Amino acid sequence: MHQKDCRNIVILTGAGVSAESGLDTFRDNGGLWEQHRVEDVATPEAFARDPHLVQRFYNLRRKALLESAEPNGAHVALADFEKRYSKAGLGEFTLVTQNVDDLHERAGSQQLLHMHGELLKIRCQQSARVYECREDIAVENPCPCCESPGQLRPDIVWFGEMPMFMDEIEQALSRCDIFIAIGTSGQVYPAAGFVQMAKAYGAHTVELNLEASGSQFDEGHYGPATEVVPRYFNSLLASG
Ligand code: APR
Repeated sequence: MHQKDCRNIVILTGAGVSAESGLDTFRDNGGLWEQHRVEDVATPEAFARDPHLVQRFYNLRRKALLESAEPNGAHVALADFEKRYSKAGLGEFTLVTQNVDDLHERAGSQQLLHMHGELLKIRCQQSARVYECREDIAVENPCPCCESPGQLRPDIVWFGEMPMFMDEIEQALSRCDIFIAIGTSGQVYPAAGFVQMAKAYGAHTVELNLEASGSQFDEGHYGPATEVVPRYFNSLLASG
């Protein structure tokens, strides 16, 4: 695949891109969902049933992100590629992430859609206003807008909820010439369906992952993200 063929690029990242930054993936051994039942911590029903447990779960994840995670070589390579690609005016660049961490931003990514929300944001359930959040949230905390306790929730897309930015993502996919999925197991829809959508629009599809996810990509490169991602994007630029 030569750079001159890649006019519009859509990249989808998942937990695998942040694994080497020390953040647990969801479905690997010892991953987040092995320690918690999804239905206890990541559904609207769980929040209604036990908001303390849900807030604690996200408080711990937020703390781990802020205190011990740094962007790794894969995040940096993506941000660097975006800068060079945009500067050269080669086409549209869209980075979609399922990750709720801020490691892409910290590495310098600009065009970024957080389809599953962000750990460093909270939302008022009444007004839908969104606030930056770098602290633990207690259920008793009063909301800044409505001043009632119990209204603030993580600005995270839980199971059973609609992912964010779907219109923008579908438009980008409809125009894309190359679709690259990085560090995702392809088990959660709608993101898992992006490869088929991209193909239907005529895009070349590429997977960069620790191991083959089993989804049908045209091309795959396997190994740790910090190795595979810089190598792949350098070769994409060099081949132009
Ligand atoms: N480098 C590259 N890939 C890796 C690495 C690594 N160092 N470590 C793990 N992986 C791969 C795994 O092989 C797996 O295919 O990353 C993938 C992680 O898959 P999941 O844990 O299922 O994470 P993800 O695909 O992002 O999950 C999607 O599911 O639970 C929901 O909302 C949550 O956004 C999440 C969504």
